[in-house]
Amino acid sequence: MSALPSTQRVLFVCLGNICRSPTAEGVFRKLLADRGLEHRIHADSCGTADWHSGKPPDPRSIAAAKRRGYDLEALRARPLCWEDYYTFDYMLAMDESNLEVLRRESPLDYAGHIGLFLDFAPDLPEREVPDPYYGEGDGFLRVLELVEAASDGLLAELLQHG
Ligand code: 4NP
Repeated sequence: MSALPSTQRVLFVCLGNICRSPTAEGVFRKLLADRGLEHRIHADSCGTADWHSGKPPDPRSIAAAKRRGYDLEALRARPLCWEDYYTFDYMLAMDESNLEVLRRESPLDYAGHIGLFLDFAPDLPEREVPDPYYGEGDGFLRVLELVEAASDGLLAELLQHG
């Protein structure tokens, strides 16, 4: 008897949920759609701060993503909440400070994986996705490059452990 593969749930986490984590959500969702895996793997994103709750991604993130074929326009920011720990198998932070928040807020019995998203791109020199919000335009392109590389690694991991 063969069991159906269960749904795997992934949450991308940054500070404001308007630049890095919605980019990760959009890129990873497109990867899933292109492989016909969107019913088997669920992706979402949130911020550890609630400053931009309800807002679409930063226009610079939307524009950079669009140039590479990703549509972020329908995404809306939301803050991390405790239910996330009971929903997501993987909670992936864009940088060390958001990783610290994820660990600090984690229930003692959380059995999923909390870590850095770029751990899934071990060949890159970076360990963190740099915050592009206050920087020049190039930062948004670098976010996309890093996110694309880690998305491939994450998908390989999920397919191996699914
Ligand atoms: P994100 O970038 O964490 O990648 O969404 C930021 C967005 C907004 C702010 C900081 C970082 N902010 O200070 O409002």
